[in-house]
Order: sequence, then structure tokens, then C-alpha cells
Amino acid sequence: MTQRIVVAGATGYIGGNVARACVSAGLSVRVLARDPGRLPADLAGALEPFVGEVTRPETLRGLCNGADVLFSSIGMYILNRRPSLWEVDYRGNLALLDEAQRAGVGTIVFVSVLHGPEMARLSAVAQAREAVVQAIQASGLRYLIFRPTGFFNDMLHALPRIRKSGASYLVGDPNVRINPLHGLDFGEEVVRTLATGLPNNWIRSVGGPEVFTREEIARMSCQALGLSPKVRHIPLATLRLAAAVAGPFHGNFRAFLKFLEFAVTTPDMTGSPIGHRRLYDAMVECAAREPSAGRRGRSTPMRPGPRPT
Ligand SMILES: NC(=O)c1ccc[n+]([C@@H]2O[C@H](COP(=O)([O-])OP(=O)(O)OC[C@H]3O[C@@H](n4cnc5c(N)ncnc54)[C@H](OP(=O)(O)O)[C@@H]3O)[C@@H](O)[C@H]2O)c1
Repeated sequence: MTQRIVVAGATGYIGGNVARACVSAGLSVRVLARDPGRLPADLAGALEPFVGEVTRPETLRGLCNGADVLFSSIGMYILNRRPSLWEVDYRGNLALLDEAQRAGVGTIVFVSVLHGPEMARLSAVAQAREAVVQAIQASGLRYLIFRPTGFFNDMLHALPRIRKSGASYLVGDPNVRINPLHGLDFGEEVVRTLATGLPNNWIRSVGGPEVFTREEIARMSCQALGLSPKVRHIPLATLRLAAAVAGPFHGNFRAFLKFLEFAVTTPDMTGSPIGHRRLYDAMVECAAREPSAGRRGRSTPMRPGPRPT
């Protein structure tokens, strides 16, 4: 039975929601943060912060002492050129794995991406995360790997842009099917799985309860903002050209564009349905908060806009 969990990534969307679900379930939650000021404000006092950085493994010593489970969603989701996503997504998560092994943690829970092995043929985002999956599988620790589809935050971050321009912009195939997932539904699934007795070593692709085409999501975004649905289509060639131009000098950006290319051209981007929260409700709630809702405190946000919870 899990009692103490370490959450790495709690200053971000996925990890923050996992920490929230763990606190609600009464678990003792230690969170890794390079800046504890970025931890979710509503959880102040409920978390045990541990200050450290995955890119400086020496700062992780002691992070996992006394813990049963290590969860990590640490990953680059920003446009900065440095550090590289190999330094963060790959080596950073390997440093966490080392620390978990050193401390005798029983179980590791890691977040990769939907269709990770297939996407790895196109994007370094998936290559780096799937390389971590392989290292975890070879580690001897019990593991629970999630490969989620897109989370609500991807769609909510687009709302300010749509409000400003009066239209949704879609690149790639509008008929791609996806079942986006609320972060808290994901967090609650992690807690439930840990509580109901972990099957040894499994990998699971997950998504939310409702399936949409990308076109439907684009139209719904307008409606949630009180706009009449207007969708403009951008040729896929634009994305490919941008990736080719970025390639030689901005590896992180190229990897992200290739990640996007895979996601907007793969007909089925759905995972096994979990949770109950509805995308349209979240959009309406976010639209009502925005633009007063706080922006991400990052130097170069990849997906600017209010930070959804
Ligand atoms: N969101 C999605 O739709 C989605 C879907 C499937 C898979 N994923 C995977 O899950 C990962 C996390 O997603 P998210 O939405 O939670 O992203 P996020 O909100 O940007 O959170 C990223 C986390 O990683 C940490 N991090 C980033 N760069 C770092 C660095 N240089 N050094 C140390 N820590 C660093 C952040 O810490 P700071 O706050 O200190 O920067 C934060 O805790 C993604 O990278 C992606 O691979 C995401």
C-alpha cells in the first residue's frame, strides 16, 4: 500500500494534478521543485517540498528516502534552446531513476506519450521519453508507465489566441480523433491504480471519456468563448518547413514540431478512456477566468495563456 510518494514535475500541469490527487487521497507527498514558489498555490502546506534539479543529479540525493513510489512527469514543454530535451527528459529522468534505486523505492510511475514507440521514429520528444521507459524496464523496479494522449491544457492554452483572432487555426488532418484528458482525472487514476494493488509492470495508453475530431475541438473552442465557430486550416507543409528550418540550430523546437506533426496526422490519437471531466466545461470555465488568469512564469512559453488546473 502506497503511503509516501515523491512527485517530480509537480510545478507543471500533469505532476501538479497528480500531487493534488495524492493529497486528496491522504498520501504523504514529497515534491521535487527547482523553485518551490512554482508549486500549486492551493496545495501550500499540504506538500513536502524538496529543492533540487534533475539536471544536477547531486541535488537529488535524499529525494526518495523513505518513499514507496516515485512519479515523474518531468519534461521539456517549452521553446528554450537550452538545456536540450535529452538533458532534461532523458538524463534528468535517469538521474531520478538512479536516486529511486539508491533509496530502495519499490515502484516508479512514469509519463511517456501516446504511441511513444511509433512517434519515436519522427520526434526526439518521444525518443527521449521511450529511452527512459527502456531504462525503467531494465532497472528491476516495479513500474507503471502511462502513455497519455493530449491533456486539456493543450486546448485551453489556445483559447486566448482564438479569442484574439476570432478563429481557431488547425494544421494537419482535421479528422484526427482524440480523447483529451483532464490532469486531475489522470492524477486520480494514478492514485486508484496504486491503491488497488499494482499489477506488476504495465504500460497503459490513456485518454479522456469523450472522443472528438480535431475539427470539433476547434469549433467547440470558439463556442466556449461565445464566438461563432470559425476554423482556418494551415497546410501541413508549413509545419514541415518550419521543422526543417529550425532543425540545424534549435533541436528542441524541431523535436516539438515533429511531435506535433505526428499528433496531427495520426488518425487515431485516442487512449483507453479514464475519468469523467468534460472538455467543454473546462473550456467555459477557463474562458470565464481568462484573460485575468495568470500566465505561465516561463521565459519562452511554448503554449502561452492562462495556466489551467
Ligand atoms: N501535456 C500534455 O498534453 C502531455 C501529453 C502526453 C505526454 N506529456 C509529457 O509529459 C511531460 C510533462 O507535461 P506537462 O504538461 O506537465 O508539462 P509542464 O506543465 O511544462 O511541466 C513540466 C515539468 O518539468 C519540469 N522541467 C521542465 N524543464 C526543466 C528543466 N530544464 N529542469 C528541471 N525541470 C524541468 C518543470 O519544472 P519547472 O516548473 O521548474 O520548469 C515542470 O515541473 C511533457 O514534457 C510530455 O513529454 C504531456
